[in-house]
Amino acid sequence: MSPQDASSPLWKDEFSVHTADERYVSRRQFTKFLVLTSLAMFVGQLWILVKSWLTRKPSAPPAQSVARMGEIQVGEVKLFSYPTALDHCIMIRTAADTYVAYSQKCTHLSCAVYYSQKSNKLECPCHKGFFAVDDGRVLAGPPTRSLPRILLENRGDQLFAVGIREEG
Ligand code: FES
Repeated sequence: MSPQDASSPLWKDEFSVHTADERYVSRRQFTKFLVLTSLAMFVGQLWILVKSWLTRKPSAPPAQSVARMGEIQVGEVKLFSYPTALDHCIMIRTAADTYVAYSQKCTHLSCAVYYSQKSNKLECPCHKGFFAVDDGRVLAGPPTRSLPRILLENRGDQLFAVGIREEG
């Protein structure tokens, strides 16, 4: 009940003309406020949940054969695409039984990186970005993130790309 007496019209309760009454919040109004606020928060949380579910990343891309073992010599490279035809990658044979592969897209402004056998680095010609061959980390230049690494797996006489690992 509001502080108005029982004979006062309802509109005076809802639209009070007295300052003291304006500040008065009935239990019903307070409960309504709490219920509506909780409902709004619930709907917000639900929206975030639905949105994250809709934009979730697909699971690991399927394995794809990218080269035959021994197809390239130590110090040579092979270009391939993984996981889609638009995702260009570079594979380097760094030792007799060691292969590494990375996305060819520079993490600065997406120019294609290439392997320099002379310096044993992955280099980006656009702004002189340099990446380490052994793990793709930034060595110099404007890039701040490592090259995404393509995970390779040896299956018989074939090398398969089996996933992508992005590091900070
Ligand atoms: S795009 Fe590679 S360093 Fe800028």
